[in-house]
Amino acid sequence: MLRVVCPGSFDPVTNGHLDVISRAARLYDEVIVAVLRNLNKSTLFTVEERVEMLLEVTKTQANVRVERFDGLIVDFCMANDVSAIVKGLRAVSDFDYEMQMAQMNYNQAGVETLFMTTNPLYAFLSSSLVKEFARYGGDVTGLVPPAVLRTLTERLGAG
Ligand code: PNS
Repeated sequence: MLRVVCPGSFDPVTNGHLDVISRAARLYDEVIVAVLRNLNKSTLFTVEERVEMLLEVTKTQANVRVERFDGLIVDFCMANDVSAIVKGLRAVSDFDYEMQMAQMNYNQAGVETLFMTTNPLYAFLSSSLVKEFARYGGDVTGLVPPAVLRTLTERLGAG
C-alpha cells in the first residue's frame, strides 16, 4: 500500500492545492492531507475550519483522508506509515526552501519528498494572495472551490 502525505497550512485550500491532491490520489493508493494545527503565523481559519473545508472539497475522492498534525511532518509520516511527502512546486522561487525542507526531512528521518509541478493555471496562486484579494473586494472565483469561496466571503464579510 503506497500512502503519501500532502502537508500544509491550507488557510484556506485553493484550487492549486486541490490539483496536486487529486493528481497524487490518481498515482498512489492513499493520500493523507495533513493540516498543520499550530502555525507560527496567525491564520484566518481555525484548524477545524480548514479541515472542514478540505473534507468538503475532497469528499468525492475515496482514497483521500484529511488529518491534522502538530510538530514535525516526519513524525507524522512515521506514525502513519507514510512512504513519501508530495509537494507542489509552483515556480523556481519555491524551490530553495522546498529543497531545504526535503533534504532536512530525509537527513533526519529518511522520509522522501516527491515534487509535482503545479498546473500552470495555478502557478501564481497562494492562500495568502487569495485572502488579500478577497479581503479588499477582489474576485477569487475560480481560484478556490465554491465551498471555500462561500466560507471566505462569509468570514471576510462578517469581519
Ligand atoms: O502550506 P505551507 O504553510 O507552505 O506548509 C508548510 C508545511 C506545513 C508543509 C511545513 O511548514 C511543515 O512541514 N511544517 C511542519 C513542521 C516541520 O516538520 N518542520 C520542519 C520542516 S524541514
